[in-house]
Amino acid sequence: MNNSKPWILASDIDNTLTGDAQALRQLAARLAAKQARGMLFLILATGRRLEQVLNGFDAEGIPEPNAIISQVGTEIYLPPFAPDTAPLPEWDTLLREQFSRNRAVSFLSGIEGLEMQPAEYTTPLKASGYLDKTPSPEAAVSLIRNRILEAKQEDAYQAIWSSGRDLDIIPSAAGKGKAIRYLIQFLTLVSRRVVVAGDSGNDRTMFDEFEHGIVVANAQPELTRLGDETLQPGIYFAKQPYAAGVEEGLRNFGLLP
Ligand code: GLC
Ligand code: MG
Repeated sequence: MNNSKPWILASDIDNTLTGDAQALRQLAARLAAKQARGMLFLILATGRRLEQVLNGFDAEGIPEPNAIISQVGTEIYLPPFAPDTAPLPEWDTLLREQFSRNRAVSFLSGIEGLEMQPAEYTTPLKASGYLDKTPSPEAAVSLIRNRILEAKQEDAYQAIWSSGRDLDIIPSAAGKGKAIRYLIQFLTLVSRRVVVAGDSGNDRTMFDEFEHGIVVANAQPELTRLGDETLQPGIYFAKQPYAAGVEEGLRNFGLLP
């Protein structure tokens, strides 16, 4: 019997775990061994849809988690995982209270060059577009954020900007960080420490919400900027990219030997 409290690792998938298949294979095996001994509760926190996460277990060697947070922190799933598993209804209901998809789309309307993402990436709780063809993506992001502020809707709507391309409007109560916090409370998880890991803008809320985090070496500027903006000594900037960077960070925090 192992009485010590487990760690919680909440990791992004794309370009955090994925990107180097061999490094991911090694990390996944180490994480699975920890999970099997009750020493680790693994949460995948991703922009992907549930089905894309499940397909990745076999196709990409993505480790099998204890919980999945998908669609940029607007959906939470508990095992057993199947393509038709319903998202946690309590979280869904809470987020729908203050969010209308039509209103969310209205903050994106009329922006030159903005393209909406394909229908499968939009849900009642997430309106997403591509800004890489707009004349100035950064200016477009500012405009969208200002529209939300001018409408005094910042408590209900937030704009998440990632990788120089993706713009998501989701509930202010949502996002990866808040979804992880909700899940921990919902399951009354008691842990030794929560460590988060990511590479891009939609991971930012995890670092805002939790003290300890790993930024992989291949991270996007909006996340590496964290090093200049905050005096958060708990953030570890890995020297290695992708899964090797996550593993390096976990060693730094003492989760792996
Ligand atoms: C994933 C989602 C996409 C989102 C992006 C950034 O790629 O599929 O909808 O815009 O993550 O959050
Ligand atoms: Mg990513």
